[in-house]
Amino acid sequence: MEAAITDAETVLGLETSCDETAAAVVRRHADGTVEVLSSIVASQIAQHAPYGGVVPEIAARAHVESIDGVAAEALRAAGVDYGDLTGVAATAGPGLVGGVMVGLSFGKAVALARGLPLVAVNHLEGHAVSARLGAHVAYPFLLLLVSGGHCQLLAVEGVGACRRLGSTMDDAAGEAFDKIAKALGLPYPGGPALERLAEGGDPERYPLPRALLGREGCDFSFSGLKTAAARLAEGARSDQDRADLAAAVQAAITRQLAERSERAMALFSREHEGRDLRFVVAGGVAANRTVRGRLEAAAQAHGFAFSAPPLAYCTDNAAMIALAGAERLSLGLSDPLDAPARPRWPLDEAAALANPTHVPGRKGAKA
Ligand code: KG4
Ligand code: ZN
Repeated sequence: MEAAITDAETVLGLETSCDETAAAVVRRHADGTVEVLSSIVASQIAQHAPYGGVVPEIAARAHVESIDGVAAEALRAAGVDYGDLTGVAATAGPGLVGGVMVGLSFGKAVALARGLPLVAVNHLEGHAVSARLGAHVAYPFLLLLVSGGHCQLLAVEGVGACRRLGSTMDDAAGEAFDKIAKALGLPYPGGPALERLAEGGDPERYPLPRALLGREGCDFSFSGLKTAAARLAEGARSDQDRADLAAAVQAAITRQLAERSERAMALFSREHEGRDLRFVVAGGVAANRTVRGRLEAAAQAHGFAFSAPPLAYCTDNAAMIALAGAERLSLGLSDPLDAPARPRWPLDEAAALANPTHVPGRKGAKA
């Protein structure tokens, strides 16, 4: 469903759910066209790198220190003032709650001080709309959301209307990339480093397990692959060994993403017979060229148009949060100033409640 809208929305977006402090200004015109007026991302990678992963306390403190500067920079780069905004959108979860609270509180303060409507955005909804930042992507579409915290297939029918078709039972694909990269001695974040190492590698040399063989459906599992690859990494000594293992890991993750996506395409096309079919991949792992290429081929083979966000909007950013907010505002949707920060917040709450893929206290997919 496309929004029935009147005027343009000019929205300040704020994103602080993980290790990037980000702010952006996005203008969504009445005809649905989108202009990113600015998108500022202050990465905390250098602060977390010594620990090989994101440290929540360090992240929260770093967000506090940089949020005002990053927001001011986003407004300056966009050439707008607070008075030009029609709304403010902040990530309210899921994510590291100390960080989420920083961006959400900042957004509430702006909303209160300027009399603007607030949208408390689900970070996953931001990724879901991210392809719409680069091109016109009409609803409905099939979405593979694949990042460091999430790995799920969703039928996206319209603004905020998502149905989960499958999700990971343990690690997210980006988490598998990161942990295996760490076992290979690569710097954090591991995904891009592993992609570079895999360039000179032979993906056929190391056999890796295939997860959930014989199981129907669209769920994922990466923990067996992670354990097997970490063991093989101990014996991979030469540069060629390491490149071959990196290539094998990338191929195994890509194959699983493609196989499950193809099953979801079959389901989705049965449900949407006679309509235009579109497959969208979003999230940090969508930046991987092997993954993108294989998914594009799968989409083509199943009669789906293929979309992926511009590379800058694959990983966490605030432009996608601003756009998710603008789409909601254009439908008259906003949130009260006591909207809570939510560490866990599945996009499709009904499916998540009926079929939980995690239990509290256990590590794994956030949704
Ligand atoms: O979407 P994102 O920035 O944050 C989350 O919401 O999780 O995704 C970050 C994840 C990390 O796990 C990172 O290693 C992975 O995306 N990633 C990649 C690549 N670029 C980022 N994985 C594989 N290949 C890449 N080129
Ligand atoms: Zn993300």
